[in-house]
Amino acid sequence: MLRLPPKRNQNSSFTRSARRWIKLAAGLFALSQVTGCDVPIDAFEDNRIFAKRLELTDSVELELVRSDVDSILIELFGTPDQPLWPEFLQSNEQTSSLVSIDRLQRAAGAVRSDEEDVHYGLYREHCILCHGIAGNGLGATSRLLNPYPRDFRLGKFKFKSTPIGSRPTRDDLRSLLRHGIAGTSMPSFARLPEDDIEALIDYVIYLTIRGEVERGLLMRATYELDLDAGERLTDSDQPESADVALNQADVKSNTINHHTIELVSAVARKWLMAKAHVLSVPAPPDDLPIYGSEPTTGAARERLAESIAHGRELFQGKVANCASCHGPLGAGDGTVTDYDDWTKDWTTQAGLDPLDKQQLRPMLKLGALKPRHILPRNLQLGVYRGGSRPEDLYTRIALGIDGTPMPAIPMQPTNPLGLTESDVWDLVNFLLSLPEQTDGESNQ
Ligand code: HEC
Ligand code: HEC
Repeated sequence: MLRLPPKRNQNSSFTRSARRWIKLAAGLFALSQVTGCDVPIDAFEDNRIFAKRLELTDSVELELVRSDVDSILIELFGTPDQPLWPEFLQSNEQTSSLVSIDRLQRAAGAVRSDEEDVHYGLYREHCILCHGIAGNGLGATSRLLNPYPRDFRLGKFKFKSTPIGSRPTRDDLRSLLRHGIAGTSMPSFARLPEDDIEALIDYVIYLTIRGEVERGLLMRATYELDLDAGERLTDSDQPESADVALNQADVKSNTINHHTIELVSAVARKWLMAKAHVLSVPAPPDDLPIYGSEPTTGAARERLAESIAHGRELFQGKVANCASCHGPLGAGDGTVTDYDDWTKDWTTQAGLDPLDKQQLRPMLKLGALKPRHILPRNLQLGVYRGGSRPEDLYTRIALGIDGTPMPAIPMQPTNPLGLTESDVWDLVNFLLSLPEQTDGESNQ
């Protein structure tokens, strides 16, 4: 007869340490699954949270739609191990330059290198732990990080040279990868070879476009199809314009119809248009010293002091209204109860109260990250995520921060009551002087 070991043995130090080892081994195994160092990953996770939002707000049933979306996305974009780029984007003169399939293949797949020491699997090596396989910001570490890693699939980026609503340029993404994001866990990849950085840029664009298309398909199914009458995203149809007909000639597929082609093309075009919207930062007025540049004459010092004082006035005034969020001296003690657009996307936009755990439960079960308020930055620290050069601060003030409550400032002449370029430079001077000034004040 089989004898069970006596109960107290379960607590012996041997079993305890064995259990600890088993836990550790299981943890390492789980980590190897998510980092995917050598493990093939044959599918991107789908955007269940967004599908759930649509189901909640529009009383639709999207299960069948989700499987159609999966088939369409695989046909257009392939898998994490074998990325594809839609034929009709490659063959179209305008969109062909956007992403190169060679670079995608370098960034995708398992981490490996060839005989010439060319590295592959760059995204899995450097980014997946935070940004997740699908670029959904749900990597293994995401829950532990503040701010959370970015979910690319909304197509929103914060630190760029283009206005709210526009995509970033390649230069913006390049500079971001080189410098990282100060004050967050997003590291700098300055040590990577240029080729690797370029491949990663393509891959970010690829994941973002894929994610935007996924959302677009789910929305089209919800708002434009008669699902009850059996209409599907994969139904074949007649192209409406010659341009699309031309594109469609390249697509020999039963799954991809002209609506899908139009959707993908529209999403891709937004990336192409980014360059046209870049803000060119004007030089400061000739006689205006910028804080940190050591004015040499008494007159210059006086001019700088005036500029800082005027900047402070603007900061606390009605038009710029910075103090309402950042507090009168930029300590970040103004309004602190708002959320960013990534959180709103599945809370308020889904009719759910971000503070009501009970309501949020179905979303949290699908993997959504616990909502956190987005805090206006404490500007006295002098740590800037989007770069700390005077022109970076000018850009931030003029363009705002997409996806967050931080607005673009109203500017003349578009807005007659807005600020002038010289006013914005005064604000920059005020911001640059803040760490030292406030230090002085608190030490008094
Ligand atoms: C240790 C975690 C971590 C790693 C690794 C990481 N990131 Fe990030 N990343 C973040 C966080 C956190 C943010 C959000 C910062 C914020 O919202 O201010 C972010 C934001 C971004 C953004 C959005 C920037 C913007 O302007 O909105 C891009 C693009 C990005 N990361 C790309 C990458 C790429 C590509 C890699 C790999 C080469 C990578 N990240 C690796 C944590 C990470
Ligand atoms: C409605 C609230 C709000 C207003 C008004 C506002 N901000 Fe912000 N600001 C924020 C939030 C929130 C953040 C943090 C965003 C993030 O990076 O996630 C921020 C971030 C910043 C940053 C950090 C940028 C970086 O690169 O890290 C600066 C600088 C800044 N604000 C300056 C200003 C100035 C100057 C004004 C007035 C012209 C202003 N803000 C008005 C909410 C606001």
